Amino acid sequence: MIEQSTAQVTVSSPAKVNLALGVGQVRDDGFHPLATVYQAVGIFDDIRVRPADEDSLTVYGEGVDVADVPTDGSNLALRAARLLAEHHGLDAAVEVRIHKRIPVAGGLAGGSTDAAGALLACDTLWGLRTPREELMELAAELGSDVPFCLVGGTALGSGRGEVVTPAMTRGRYWWLVLPADGGLSTPAVYAEFDRLTPTVAEPEIPEEMLAALRAGDAVRLGASLTNDLQRAALQLRPGLEVALTAGLEGGAHGALVTGSGPTTVFLCQDREHAQDLQVLLTPDFGPGLVAEAPVHGARVREARA
Ligand code: C5P
Repeated sequence: MIEQSTAQVTVSSPAKVNLALGVGQVRDDGFHPLATVYQAVGIFDDIRVRPADEDSLTVYGEGVDVADVPTDGSNLALRAARLLAEHHGLDAAVEVRIHKRIPVAGGLAGGSTDAAGALLACDTLWGLRTPREELMELAAELGSDVPFCLVGGTALGSGRGEVVTPAMTRGRYWWLVLPADGGLSTPAVYAEFDRLTPTVAEPEIPEEMLAALRAGDAVRLGASLTNDLQRAALQLRPGLEVALTAGLEGGAHGALVTGSGPTTVFLCQDREHAQDLQVLLTPDFGPGLVAEAPVHGARVREARA
């Protein structure tokens, strides 16, 4: 009888919102310089890896349409596994299974967080103990948001988003996260940004936002939320503006499109406030998700030898 390995590792990896997203003039490499404030929010994908003879990927969606997630070698989680193996000169394959709760192509870093999760899961499965700095470099190769997904919490992002510095914050924040039907392509939103804003100033993190985070003041934080990509996202999906207005009229401290959209997020005072807003917006915009923040980055939930 052939012995089957029972080894498996499961990692939980969070969604992110951008509290601030300042975007500069497109660089020669096609990326835009960013000054962003990331926050990891309590909606998690689970990424489970097992040893296998060849790489494979299955995606199971819990309340999420996963039809558009590629399951071939182009999937970012599989590319993460491959990159880590190559980095260590390892000839190993994995079976990856993703339990998806983060809306796809929504501006919530769902694909990036699966890649961060796969990096950490494979590192644990293969017993590599890759130094944190190296893991962060591999993460940056995979995508601009991937390093933050390893770090979690609340953090400043610079460069093209891949240079991550944890931020001082106090308190808990409650979000209503409202996915929109169908995703938006990140490159398409950046292209629209370029079209709408031919000359742009150097992006900066708003000081007022950092002060609000240090004070743990949700009202001040709500007033300082900002996203330079929002105009472009609204141009491509005008219906989003109606949701933003309805959320603000419903009492949210602040509302914005997160990242390249089309998900809109609403900052509330506490869980009850977020649930009340959820009830108010559900008839017109669907139920959305109530999420606490900040939460941890990609983290091993189960490791079986
Ligand atoms: O880094 P990532 O692969 O997530 O980026 C996806 C696309 O988003 C890039 O190909 C680029 O078009 C755009 N992008 C950008 N500037 C950034 C990050 C992403 O223009 N800082």
